[in-house]
Amino acid sequence: MIAPVAPMISERSKAAASLFDDLLMQPTDALLALIGLYAADPREDKIDLGVGVYKNEAGDTPVFAAVKAAEAHLLAHQFSKSYLGPEGDIGYTKALARLVFGDDEMGGRLAAVQTPGGTGAIRMGAELVVKALPDAVVHIGDPTWPNHVPLFKAARLPIVTYRHMDIAAQTLCFEEVEAALSAASPGDVALLHGCCHNPTGVDFSSEQWECLAQIMAERCLLPFIDLAYHGLGDGLERDAVGVRIVARHCPDLLVAYSCDKNFGLYRERVGALFSLSANAETAAIVQSNLLSLARANWSMPPDHGAASVRVIMESDELTAQWRAELEEMRQRIAAMREGLATLDPSLDFISRQKGMFSTLPLSPEQVKSLREDRAIYMAGSGRINIAGLVPSNLSAFVTALAAVRSTGIA
Ligand code: LMR
Repeated sequence: MIAPVAPMISERSKAAASLFDDLLMQPTDALLALIGLYAADPREDKIDLGVGVYKNEAGDTPVFAAVKAAEAHLLAHQFSKSYLGPEGDIGYTKALARLVFGDDEMGGRLAAVQTPGGTGAIRMGAELVVKALPDAVVHIGDPTWPNHVPLFKAARLPIVTYRHMDIAAQTLCFEEVEAALSAASPGDVALLHGCCHNPTGVDFSSEQWECLAQIMAERCLLPFIDLAYHGLGDGLERDAVGVRIVARHCPDLLVAYSCDKNFGLYRERVGALFSLSANAETAAIVQSNLLSLARANWSMPPDHGAASVRVIMESDELTAQWRAELEEMRQRIAAMREGLATLDPSLDFISRQKGMFSTLPLSPEQVKSLREDRAIYMAGSGRINIAGLVPSNLSAFVTALAAVRSTGIA
């Protein structure tokens, strides 16, 4: 007689209900959690200054008219959804390169791939660094976009931070930036914000970019510039000045680009990674590495948003329309900055800062009180999205802020 076969259950699976039991519960992303908290708040006078999304004077985040026109064009003329390849839409990356560098070739020194958002570009850049410079450390100014650190950590790159800004005094700590980059080792990475610093709105002047570019060139550092708010600070040309200065001084450079904000394409996930190398031969090798990283990560990027950007950039008429819409956004944000400073002179520093964000010197308790008692939503760091302010809520915001600052809530 044949004995019944015992089921193959290991000791581990008897003890644990799942092979995933050793995972730890992860905290919800605090910034993205604000989206749900705000949506669930029934108060009619609530103000959303949380996640970086532009709102017009009516408080809406509409699709750009230029994007709508490009989408209509795609609907009528795009006859295939077949694969494009890991590089994505080449017309799109070339058009963005012209916007960023003023040139889509850079003497053959430029490698470029379309990525899922600026986030995908940063992650891919981090993975390229790991392959090319396995001993590299990434130097990041504090504060920074909260996702920068997790992105580099996920690629297993060590991170060193230095002070970018004194929030209480609202001043840039430029000497600390210089000192940090001067002390970095050759082959280290310097992460910098191209314009509209997130979360402080405090950017480098052209002179400061020149100075940092020289330090990075002398120290043989790899500049990695995050350009996610191009056009929302001083306009498209002036917002690209930092990248162009660094490109003149440093033989190698990475730029992570996002079209989330300046084309309003947030959920379409439209970004690009550019890599400038000392010569065309190296650039070709970098390009091949970017393609293999793309293949191993997402194979090919999503098409629709990037194709819409390309269609806009291929048409003089749509390009002019897009530029006008972007300029209107930029001016509205600048007007809100001026409005805050006029209503409360103690907020004057906001009028000198750029782009969507400023960080107020508020304690976590004050931020919580603003949210719970006054329905004003902002990041826990005190970062406010200026683009969430409209003329009709400006004075309510200033009044609430003054009240919370004077209540003694520490
Ligand atoms: C932000 O900083 O609010 C945006 O870049 C959105 C995000 O993904 O964090």
